Amino acid sequence: MAIQWFPGHMTRAKRQIQEKLKLIDIAIELLDARVPISSRNPMVDEILLGKPRLIILNKSDLADPRMNEQWKQYFEHEGHTCAIVDSNTGTGVQSISTLAKEILKEKIDKQIAKGMRPRAIRSLIVGIPNVGKSTLINRLAGRSVAITGDKPGVTKGQQWIKAGADFELLDTPGILWPKFEDQMVGYRLAITGAIREQILNLDDIGYYAMKMLCQRYWTTLAERYELSEPPADCEDNMEIVRIMEEVGRKRGCLMSGGRVDLEKASSIILRDLRAGKLGRITLEAPYDDMPVREVE
Ligand code: G4P
Repeated sequence: MAIQWFPGHMTRAKRQIQEKLKLIDIAIELLDARVPISSRNPMVDEILLGKPRLIILNKSDLADPRMNEQWKQYFEHEGHTCAIVDSNTGTGVQSISTLAKEILKEKIDKQIAKGMRPRAIRSLIVGIPNVGKSTLINRLAGRSVAITGDKPGVTKGQQWIKAGADFELLDTPGILWPKFEDQMVGYRLAITGAIREQILNLDDIGYYAMKMLCQRYWTTLAERYELSEPPADCEDNMEIVRIMEEVGRKRGCLMSGGRVDLEKASSIILRDLRAGKLGRITLEAPYDDMPVREVE
């Protein structure tokens, strides 16, 4: 992610999205299914000004399938319509226009009752960087689209992209910022690769990823790295470091004197996690008292 978010950028991003809201019928809010809270803009309700909205849990192919369902239920419970999507392969993408029509049914029915022929539904995709906005636009368009940037002067060139007979979307997605004030959000976004590792300490990101994996996906973790003994207490830093060292030793991350290079071990863990080598993993549960269980 190249964007450094300062208050001025946030104000501009908010303004740019709100200008586009005037043009559309529905906003499509894209979240990363692995981190639905951390990939959500903290001010999204305020920014979208009550516009009808469809929530998409994208990258669902990388997330724990049971958690995808729990998150969908969570958003539905909050009064939203939510779809589970994999924009890379297109799974779930075909449901988007159908769901948008359902959300806007009342408005469409009124138009029909007045004898008007409903025009195509117009939509805008919004989400934080790297959540898959461009990929989804291309998928919906059914072709490779040149996504225009939101730089001054460029927005004027924005176009409607046809995605089926009666669904259109703007070629300029709305770029939102994540909730940076919370350090855990930063770690989770770094684990998924949404923000650059350099912003945070690699050892710390690796440590945090390892802690989550020990807590929630021990079986998969143990299988991948042939680990024998689970941590006695996942809140015990030394126990998590012990597991990281074991992974490091198994993968030959040794420094002079035989010490484990924790930075290298962190890189390996994060690379494997992002590549799906540790299975489908979700890092956040909708309710604190809802434990994320092992993927079988
Ligand atoms: P953005 O416009 O919101 O910034 O995101 P973009 O579409 O560029 O997608 C960011 C990365 O996420 C891309 O990977 C893209 O292929 C991947 N991606 C998007 N949707 C999905 C999905 O549903 N499933 C999976 N598995 N991946 C998805 P990339 O080109 O390899 O970029 P990067 O990973 O090197 O950043």
